[in-house]
Amino acid sequence: MTHPLEPDEPNDADQSRGESLVHPLEPDEPNDADQSLRESLVRVEPSGHEIIVGADESLLAAAIRQGYRWPTLCGGAGECTICFVKMLVGASNVAPAQRAERERLDECGRSDPDVRLACQLEVRGPITVLKRGLRKRK
Ligand code: FES
Repeated sequence: MTHPLEPDEPNDADQSRGESLVHPLEPDEPNDADQSLRESLVRVEPSGHEIIVGADESLLAAAIRQGYRWPTLCGGAGECTICFVKMLVGASNVAPAQRAERERLDECGRSDPDVRLACQLEVRGPITVLKRGLRKRK
């Protein structure tokens, strides 16, 4: 007879039912909390600057937060298009462009699918982009 406060030990009956021995409170897959903690490294050529982008911010927002001068007239509203970058490496590590972003870029003659708006860019892994003239604020 076991003490009522002793943990149960797995037995043959448990295994025959295929029950998992994983603690019910241990996460076994990424959840929303994990996603909010995710950060991605963006390398910007030709300067070689590296920007850490959080899961809940755009490349533009991350760059400004980290003290970079990044051209914008609309403040990140997806209207002016001067924040544009060209994807060089890791295009599969960004969220696809939304319709409004693609339309705005097309209107401005930037229909290359590798051209994206930094203010709309959701980064999900390491990437390298081309953005000339990037520098730190003084
Ligand atoms: S900052 Fe204006 S479109 Fe991105």
